[in-house]
Amino acid sequence: MEHSLVLVKPDGVQRGLVGEVISRLERRGLRLVGAKFLQVSQALAEEHYAVHKGKSFYPGLIAYIISAPVMAMVWEGPNAIVAIRQTMGATRPWEAAPGTIRHDFALEVGRNITHASDSPENGEKEAALWFKPEEMVSWSRDIDKWIFE
Ligand code: RTP
Ligand code: MG
Repeated sequence: MEHSLVLVKPDGVQRGLVGEVISRLERRGLRLVGAKFLQVSQALAEEHYAVHKGKSFYPGLIAYIISAPVMAMVWEGPNAIVAIRQTMGATRPWEAAPGTIRHDFALEVGRNITHASDSPENGEKEAALWFKPEEMVSWSRDIDKWIFE
């Protein structure tokens, strides 16, 4: 089972889209593992976005992610990485497919509502960066057999 760190970024929180994002992931059949609402520290922002350090958009990206609270979550499911990124839509909202979150709610790459891990390895790494082991819940749903083959 793959894990993905999902963030509703400051713009998504400010715009009241936390429930919308959660609702779409729930309806997809994904299972919530952990969730917390927090103000991101400079240190966590820099560690999370370390791969983008040195890029032109990096300073703006750090400023954006620490500008207001975020909703951080871990979701799991078969093929969760690809499935969640598909539900989010392309990074640049103007390239996102209709029906995706970024298509339906965003216009600019620097205000694209959500983050989702981009590989199974990064899903595990990011979940461990944002959540302590005891903050993640291992559980099952009665309906799982109708969603997980
Ligand atoms: P994310 O990490 O947020 O899920 O998005 P992603 O994989 O689709 O995009 P990534 O390449 O990892 O970039 C991380 C975030 O940086 C901002 N960005 N701005 N101005 C730009 O050209 C630019 N490129 C990326 C976006 O907020 C993107 O989500
Ligand atoms: Mg990324």
